[in-house]
Amino acid sequence: LHIAVLMGGWSAEREVSLSSGKEIADALESLGHKVTRIDMDRNVAQVIAGVRPDVVFNALHGSPGEDGTVQGMLDLMQIPYTHSGIATSVIAIDKELTKLLLVPHGIRMPEGRIVESASVHDADPLARPYVLKPVNEGSSVGVAIVTRDGNYGDPIGRDVEGPWLHFDRLLAEPFIRGRELTVAVLRDKPLAVTELRPKSGFYDYDAKYTDGLTDHICPADIPADIAEAALDMAVRAHRLLGCRGTSRSDFRWDDERGLDGLYLLEVNTQPGMTPLSLVPEQARYCGISYAELCDRIVRDAL
Ligand code: DAL
Ligand code: MG
Repeated sequence: LHIAVLMGGWSAEREVSLSSGKEIADALESLGHKVTRIDMDRNVAQVIAGVRPDVVFNALHGSPGEDGTVQGMLDLMQIPYTHSGIATSVIAIDKELTKLLLVPHGIRMPEGRIVESASVHDADPLARPYVLKPVNEGSSVGVAIVTRDGNYGDPIGRDVEGPWLHFDRLLAEPFIRGRELTVAVLRDKPLAVTELRPKSGFYDYDAKYTDGLTDHICPADIPADIAEAALDMAVRAHRLLGCRGTSRSDFRWDDERGLDGLYLLEVNTQPGMTPLSLVPEQARYCGISYAELCDRIVRDAL
């Protein structure tokens, strides 16, 4: 096959996407495919039309790329592409829309509220401790945990211009104490539960992409009923959203509250494929090599 690997772009997760894209392109080449690497810019439609690939491997993260824009463009061009389609992408990139779709189906998610970014500088939107995050970013960009006596992550900055002024809409959610879990789904099947244990602070951008800052425990050392529930919630979320290829669902688990303490935070439709990323790690645990994982994602697009 001639596969165009689309990466980079201009989202806040550009560097993450370049890392995912490089790994993916190398793996697809090792399988004997012809690979064209495309760092997305505003001329992307012309570039792809010139390349005429059989399929596009979408290795973009964030907006644009994970949000339906690129998906719509490729639909119009009638070029098959990996991962989820336009409607799924539009919903899943938005953590609030995701809740509106999943919570009525019995998927437990934190009860948050949308706030204007300027307003958080004047008053707490929720009782502390809470989490403040842009509604449609990835890799923990712009996320802060506001505790009773301070905060982790980006500074809350009551008296200075905080980073949230760069984002239109923020989601404020009660902070769920306890543990961080994630489940990858590949072609409708959950792979495993991984627990992320950052060595300090929370699982933020640096903890995600700096080797050695976070312990990944796969499979997670948690009770069987919690693991089963997480696997089941991830598959149900993947199906309800209509995800294709692969997705990764992120959870918090309050281990003092048993099953009632398990909350889905979000579904990632373009999960990271970097050397430190979790979907490839869970695939490996299931006996699926990185190259085989890429191959399965491509075959799901055709
Ligand atoms: N947003 C990053 C790439 C992830 O979910 O893995
Ligand atoms: Mg995410």
